[in-house]
Amino acid sequence: MYLKRVLVPLFCLGLEVLAPVVADQVEIREVAADKGTNVTIPCGDLQENTSNVQWVHRGNRTHHTVLMDGGLLLRQVGVEDEGLYECGVENETAYVDRVNLTVRTEPPPLVNVTVHASTILALILWNVAGDGGHPIIDFTAQYRSAAPVNNTLEPWRPISPNHISPNSRQVDVYHLEPNASYWFRVWATNALGPGPPVEVLATTLYSDQEAELYKHFLEGAESFDTRTWLAAVCVVMGTLAVLAAGTCAVLCREWRRPVLWKLSSDRD
Ligand SMILES: *[C@@H]1O[C@H](CO)[C@@H](O)[C@H](O)[C@H]1NC(C)=O
Ligand SMILES: *[C@@H]1O[C@H](CO)[C@@H](O)[C@H](O)[C@H]1NC(C)=O
Ligand SMILES: *[C@@H]1O[C@H](CO)[C@@H](O)[C@H](O)[C@H]1NC(C)=O
Ligand SMILES: *[C@@H]1O[C@H](CO)[C@@H](O)[C@H](O)[C@H]1NC(C)=O
Ligand SMILES: *[C@@H]1O[C@H](CO)[C@@H](O)[C@H](O)[C@H]1NC(C)=O
Ligand SMILES: *[C@@H]1O[C@H](CO)[C@@H](O)[C@H](O)[C@H]1NC(C)=O
Repeated sequence: MYLKRVLVPLFCLGLEVLAPVVADQVEIREVAADKGTNVTIPCGDLQENTSNVQWVHRGNRTHHTVLMDGGLLLRQVGVEDEGLYECGVENETAYVDRVNLTVRTEPPPLVNVTVHASTILALILWNVAGDGGHPIIDFTAQYRSAAPVNNTLEPWRPISPNHISPNSRQVDVYHLEPNASYWFRVWATNALGPGPPVEVLATTLYSDQEAELYKHFLEGAESFDTRTWLAAVCVVMGTLAVLAAGTCAVLCREWRRPVLWKLSSDRD
């Protein structure tokens, strides 16, 4: 009698403890899908034509369509659909399948985006916080003046190169005006498209000398004259020719001297 009174509740307790343990023992499968696609998740190996398969997501039955074979159809998935999906047969405590769904997206915004501006040059730096599930193909950076003209900002200007290598974390911007404010923006792109741009405002330095120096340097590079180049080449070639002639003359003299000496010794 005593044994029965103790053992029966113990047995029932054991059953109650056992059920969640069984549920936890079903391994979680990882499933990844591209944003915007339709995804079908089968409920384990369940093959029966069951209308009593239930799918649970975040503690509630999902609003998504349960197919005739017990699979779950998610249409045009978004990041809000991410997480754990568990399926089981109605009135049975153990889950048949557990699936952790991750949704691949465009790259997230870049982090630690900073701009170091001198007078007419700027350096944009950034870090990557993730790739969204697909590798980053390239980065793109643009800039525009922060001063509105006729109450409107000018269109964004490209920064060369248009497709910055995925290994790069910086890009230079040239031809800025000194003592001027600019918006800079940069974003990453993967197979699913461009991520959101991150915008940073920066003001170039004012320095008469430095600006003039850089301007001269850049102007010199732009108005590069081929005639100057030809003249320089001519001067160099001329110098080389003179040097060669000189060397020849010396060599000839050195060669003729022993001959002369030989001739004179023959005469003796
Ligand atoms: C996804 O499902 C929707 C609605 O059923 C359909 O309109 C769309 O064409 C499907 N997309 C793909 C890629 O199959
Ligand atoms: C599940 O249990 C409820 C009541 O407990 C019952 O009405 C229903 O028919 C059961 N479903 C199945 C598939 O056994
Ligand atoms: C699902 O996968 C994501 C990303 O891999 C992970 O962070 C999360 O912890 C997983 N969730 C479960 C319940 O395993
Ligand atoms: C952002 O900068 C902080 C401080 O410099 C650094 O600790 C962190 O790792 C950076 N973030 C990334 C994703 O590199
Ligand atoms: C500003 O607008 C006026 C009239 O709308 C126009 O005449 C002028 O050229 C504009 N200025 C610039 C810099 O676009
Ligand atoms: C820099 O620009 C500001 C605002 O445009 C102006 O007030 C200031 O005089 C300028 N400084 C120099 C040194 O040109």
